[in-house]
Amino acid sequence: MTDPTQVQDHSRARDPFVDWVRQATPYIHAHRGRTFVICFGGEAVADPGFAHLIHDIALLHGLGVRVILVHGARPQIEARLRERHSELRYVNGLRITDGTALACVKEAAGVVRVEIEALLSMGLADSPMAGVRIPVVSGNFVTARPIGVLDGVDYRQTGVVRRVDRQSLMQRLDAGAVVLMPPLGYSPTGEVFNLSAADVARSAAIALKADKLIFLTEEPGVRDAAGALVSNVLSGEVESLLAAPPGPAPHEAAGRPVGFTEDLAQALRAGADACIHGVQRVHLIDRHRDGALLRELYTRDGSGTLITGQSYEGLRPARAEDVTGVLELLRPLEERGVLVRRSRERLESEIDRFFLMERDGLVIACAALYPYPDQGMGELASVAVHADYRGGRRGDKLLEHIQTIARTRGLRRLFVLTTQTAHWFQERGFVPAPRESLPPEKQVLYNERRNSLVFINDLGA
Ligand SMILES: CC(C)(COP(=O)(O)OP(=O)(O)OC[C@H]1O[C@@H](n2cnc3c(N)ncnc32)[C@H](O)[C@@H]1OP(=O)(O)O)[C@@H](O)C(=O)NCCC(=O)NCCS
Repeated sequence: MTDPTQVQDHSRARDPFVDWVRQATPYIHAHRGRTFVICFGGEAVADPGFAHLIHDIALLHGLGVRVILVHGARPQIEARLRERHSELRYVNGLRITDGTALACVKEAAGVVRVEIEALLSMGLADSPMAGVRIPVVSGNFVTARPIGVLDGVDYRQTGVVRRVDRQSLMQRLDAGAVVLMPPLGYSPTGEVFNLSAADVARSAAIALKADKLIFLTEEPGVRDAAGALVSNVLSGEVESLLAAPPGPAPHEAAGRPVGFTEDLAQALRAGADACIHGVQRVHLIDRHRDGALLRELYTRDGSGTLITGQSYEGLRPARAEDVTGVLELLRPLEERGVLVRRSRERLESEIDRFFLMERDGLVIACAALYPYPDQGMGELASVAVHADYRGGRRGDKLLEHIQTIARTRGLRRLFVLTTQTAHWFQERGFVPAPRESLPPEKQVLYNERRNSLVFINDLGA
């Protein structure tokens, strides 16, 4: 007789390729017909691996994504200026575009355009582009105006986006073309303006109500002090993140906090603004990682930093009216001794320490942060995900959110007391610590009978 368990094991022999296709399929369906604005710098164009990136973008087009490419051209512009024994001048972080610089911008934009068009026109039988025909269009889609004179400095032909011709862009996308947008804009006076690619991408994404705005960055995404990727940032947190960057000794340099390059800061700001104006998701992806774009879009985990306007499933600070919902979530865990019991009165007075996730009016996850500013510490408490909603990394999202909030409040370490969840915290960078490392007022309250283990997480802030 056949052993049924053996039959089952055999049928589940894993084929990584088949697994991958199965994992990607929901994303392929979800992204088809969606509009993605993808922005990269001129550095990406100059990279020998640029063809791989463009071919990945061609693959997106093949999978039915409506693609708008926005490119920068700084290295190409600077190279041309050097040939003319000139250079870009910056005042207060803003470049001044004089006549020579503008001539170089136009040349560089033209050359980059031709290179991208050539790569998107490839069709060699043994290349990923075999049998593909992708129309590419460019044009006067962006109306710009000069930045003007600021503090007595005339920025000449450096401009900002005034509006984007949505209708023309839509027509080109509807016709199946990839739209290519250089960092240039035109004014009703017939002038040409040098723009930042991030500004063009942000404005195009907003005008098109794009589903995604993607920045392929020179930096490996937004990293915390330990070098770990910050996978989710809320648009409302971006400014505080830029003002208080992660790192052991934040200090100011050239008027900007150390920790973020100007390009990354620009992408974060443009991304946050796009979110505020209705773009659902903004991704910051390290363009140096081969295939990072595909991984971000077609796998569960992604590989970059996601900026969202709305909290993850309504992740938000708790309010007085949430007390009952939070109690309902915590009670079963308190009864099992996983969490310390909190009375309704105590929860009412401490509800402003809680953050929660909500789905259809039900509180499905929560966590609390109790700051001890004198010690630069914060207690992470009451981490809980409703039993029906586990397995969706909601615990990780809550933890990341609390870590971000703690950093923005200037805290350097988080501690947690736990009896049954030690490994979950350890797997997320918490390390065992003696009771004496707790803030003194917390040591006094330590419950000997409960005998909780203490773990500390260095926030590097
Ligand atoms: C810990 C918790 C918040 C995580 O919720 P989640 O993000 O939905 O994640 P899951 O429950 O799916 O668990 C994610 C991973 O952590 C593991 N995990 C869950 N509970 C764990 C525990 N008590 N100890 C160690 N690992 C645990 C899971 O096995 C899973 O790992 P795997 O994917 O490698 O198998 C949730 O399990 C929970 O609410 N637990 C009860 C409350 C609790 O213990 N809170 C901490 C109090 S100090």
